[in-house]
Amino acid sequence: MKQVSPSILASDMLNLGNEIKKIENSGAKYVHIDIMDGCFVPNISFGMPIISAVRKCTDLVLDVHAMIVQPQRYIEEFIKCGADIVTFHIEASNDEDIRASIDLIKSLGKKVGLSIKPKTPAEAVIPYVNDIDMVLVMTVEPGFGGQKFMGETMEKVTEIRDYANKIGKELDIEVDGGINNDTIKIAADAGANIFVLGTGFFKSEEPLTAEQILSKTE
Ligand code: DX5
Ligand code: ZN
Repeated sequence: MKQVSPSILASDMLNLGNEIKKIENSGAKYVHIDIMDGCFVPNISFGMPIISAVRKCTDLVLDVHAMIVQPQRYIEEFIKCGADIVTFHIEASNDEDIRASIDLIKSLGKKVGLSIKPKTPAEAVIPYVNDIDMVLVMTVEPGFGGQKFMGETMEKVTEIRDYANKIGKELDIEVDGGINNDTIKIAADAGANIFVLGTGFFKSEEPLTAEQILSKTE
């Protein structure tokens, strides 16, 4: 199923409650929460207090994207704060820790996503696909909102979608970075079904409903 996941990184943090209402009113079902540690990525965003605050004001699906080193250190805490989906980066830990994190998230009854940066090949995530709910293919270098969509990442989306289909796995593929009215169709055609929009949602001159945004994928 296709979903829009508005990223609060581009929202007005002083009015976060209203910004969450804006997401609810748009008909979107997800909220994308970008956690950055200033180490895995050259930027620091926010952490647990924001996940908890958002959780208190909405029943939307909290789609937490951890851009941090050794994410296994904080997974339990993200879930305690209210995360429904925890996505972490394959580049941020080793195979043993990745497997342990996948098991931990599942044992706590939440959905697990694995993310790859633009230069990480699809092959890196393939061994985990059968055990996870979602792959997040970064369509910009992680760290900042408002960057230009990297079309060359689309081959990986198709490769992962083809593999999931081949093994009969129902997999969500999320794209994140530079998604707008034009690039959303390119990503959907490649095989993505969850679309993160930061700038495209919160800073758009003509705010669209989730349905209108998704209609651009047809
Ligand atoms: C970037 C973040 C994105 C960001 C997307 O590292 O993971 O979620 O908010 O922002 P836009 O949609 O502005 O590219
Ligand atoms: Zn993100």
